[in-house]
Amino acid sequence: MVLLMGTLRLAFNGWWRHLGHFLATRRMALRRAMITLAHLSDVHLAPLPPVRARDLINKRVTGFLNWKIKREHTMAGDGLTKLVRHMREQNPDFTVVTGDLVNLALDAEINTAYNWLETVGPPEQVCISPGNHDAYIKGQLQKAMDRWDGYVMGETVDQHAFPFVRRVGDVAIVSCNSAVPTAPWIAAGRFEEDQAARLARCLKLLGDGGYFRVVLIHHPPFRGATDWHKRLVGSGRIRAVLREAGAELVLHGHTHIDSYAEIDGPDDAIPVIGVPSAANAPGGHKPAARYNLFSIRGEPGAWHCHMTERGYTGPGEAIGVIRERRIW
Ligand SMILES: [Fe+2]
Repeated sequence: MVLLMGTLRLAFNGWWRHLGHFLATRRMALRRAMITLAHLSDVHLAPLPPVRARDLINKRVTGFLNWKIKREHTMAGDGLTKLVRHMREQNPDFTVVTGDLVNLALDAEINTAYNWLETVGPPEQVCISPGNHDAYIKGQLQKAMDRWDGYVMGETVDQHAFPFVRRVGDVAIVSCNSAVPTAPWIAAGRFEEDQAARLARCLKLLGDGGYFRVVLIHHPPFRGATDWHKRLVGSGRIRAVLREAGAELVLHGHTHIDSYAEIDGPDDAIPVIGVPSAANAPGGHKPAARYNLFSIRGEPGAWHCHMTERGYTGPGEAIGVIRERRIW
């Protein structure tokens, strides 16, 4: 039996309990069940609620035009509902959503997103890493976090909300936040030094405890992942933390494409996987709606992780398996 010790604070379901030190007894042989983890991203919930003129006197005016010109016809429809239903039929133990639940971060959208989250699963089985659209203008990310509540909570190392940790069997999900308000036409994210220090602490504790560590971040952290205006500012910081402290998997969204990259870890390379938007209709220039399912079992040094991508295979087609890949 290995003990995981540290000074973590448990914040969950609206109540706070300071534990002094965090002590998890685990690693019993009987605990080694396979865990399945589902990954959805970039939901961009449609339709957009009625927008008042005064809501557009800021960056939202460009987002509103972007929605009308580019996204409304590709994101509408019941494709997302069917995809979520299909995903739930696979009975994942836990589901992660890597951001951009909304479009302009209007109060009404934040409410609708909460209702949508309830269709994905209860907060005990679902968590979020926010995206740039969830933080579209100043103050709205905090509003969203207050509303989404248990979906953006977990164990943390201090009073800061990110990163937070959810543990599911031998899997520990570490949700980071790269979402910040930006100028019009900029969709960049940011990863600051203080969050990097907290992430390093979480990963070290969880690594010592023998967990399979899954890091969530909306913006992809590998080099050359996006155009300049969509990049992650501070991506070198998160790569440095991962290189030093290690993780077994990084999941992201933002690009709306399927992607596989690797970044340096302390020993082995760390897989970095992006999933297309969960709401994109088939026939566009980006992949149609998809979700990834990871089956994880094993132990440190001998992990097995298998990924299945499922989604729409073409216009009018059913949801099917698009790719299988061995990750570990
Ligand atoms: Fe995004």
